Amino acid sequence: MKTANELFEAYLPMIEKGLDSFLPPENAADPECSVLHRAMRYAVMGGGKRIRPVLTLEFCRLCGGDPAAALPFACALEMIHSYSLIHDDLPCMDDDDLRRGKPSTHKAFGEATALLAGDALLNRAFETALSAGQLPPAAVLQATKCLAELSGVSGMIGGQMIDLESEGRRVGTDTLRRMDQGKTVALIRAACRMGCIIGGRTEMLPAADTYAENIGLAFQIRDDMLDVEGDAALLGKPVGSDAENEKSTYVSLLGLEQASRLVEQMTETAKQTVAPFGESAAALCDLAEMLAHRVH
Ligand code: IPE
Ligand code: IPE
Ligand code: MG
Ligand code: MG
Ligand code: MG
Repeated sequence: MKTANELFEAYLPMIEKGLDSFLPPENAADPECSVLHRAMRYAVMGGGKRIRPVLTLEFCRLCGGDPAAALPFACALEMIHSYSLIHDDLPCMDDDDLRRGKPSTHKAFGEATALLAGDALLNRAFETALSAGQLPPAAVLQATKCLAELSGVSGMIGGQMIDLESEGRRVGTDTLRRMDQGKTVALIRAACRMGCIIGGRTEMLPAADTYAENIGLAFQIRDDMLDVEGDAALLGKPVGSDAENEKSTYVSLLGLEQASRLVEQMTETAKQTVAPFGESAAALCDLAEMLAHRVH
């Protein structure tokens, strides 16, 4: 596979099918569970670019593994990402009413159910990862530990905390970097790392880290740019939310032009990091480029 489009064509059907099978059924026997299941599925299914699971499957392939073996980890990560979006949209956080082109989960199901659906997705993610069969137990353990660490205090949740604490304040680029390393890079790093672990080539982890760090930071900066100059209909989420919440972002600190230059630089570094792997990493190079210029 040479292009990002080919990656999505190959992996999206697997990912959608995997998510559908790993999530609890739409209609549970008892009515309370049924609402919770529907809210979980509402947040995960039918929307989302699936960047993170695609990265897991592709890094696994790049390492010589069968992408299908990494599917439970790819889906577990997408569940955690989706839960982070449910919570991120709640009134006590960013208070956004639109997500993935639909009313946010708390708008569709109420705040309490949205909160529980997020919690339940987090747990379901670990059940899914730990149920991955046919793999060496040591690899399952290492990948699951990676997922736990990078979605927790020293990863995504830690970054979300810095994001909230930086509202209405002028913070420096070092704090912004720590914030984005947590809230966005961490899950992208988990995606790439888990692919290497399941693919059985842990010597690839340093390259995966550098690639993830650069596309991850560029991804969040591009997200911050789109919050200013994007189109809500294309994005499927509101624009102007960061300004409304007085968020600290690279755009609020440096302006659109400098932010765009950073995205270009980081994308170039990401491409150079995987370039030594030659033709087999062509699609990862193209993906970095595609993400840098995305409009949703
Ligand atoms: C949104 O992530 C949250 C950020 C880290 C900027 P995505 O842009 O990957 O969201 P979906 O999964 O496509 O909805
Ligand atoms: C959210 O960052 C990152 C996580 C959910 C971990 P943002 O708050 O910028 O994401 P959007 O713009 O709402 O998707
Ligand atoms: Mg946020
Ligand atoms: Mg948000
Ligand atoms: Mg944003």
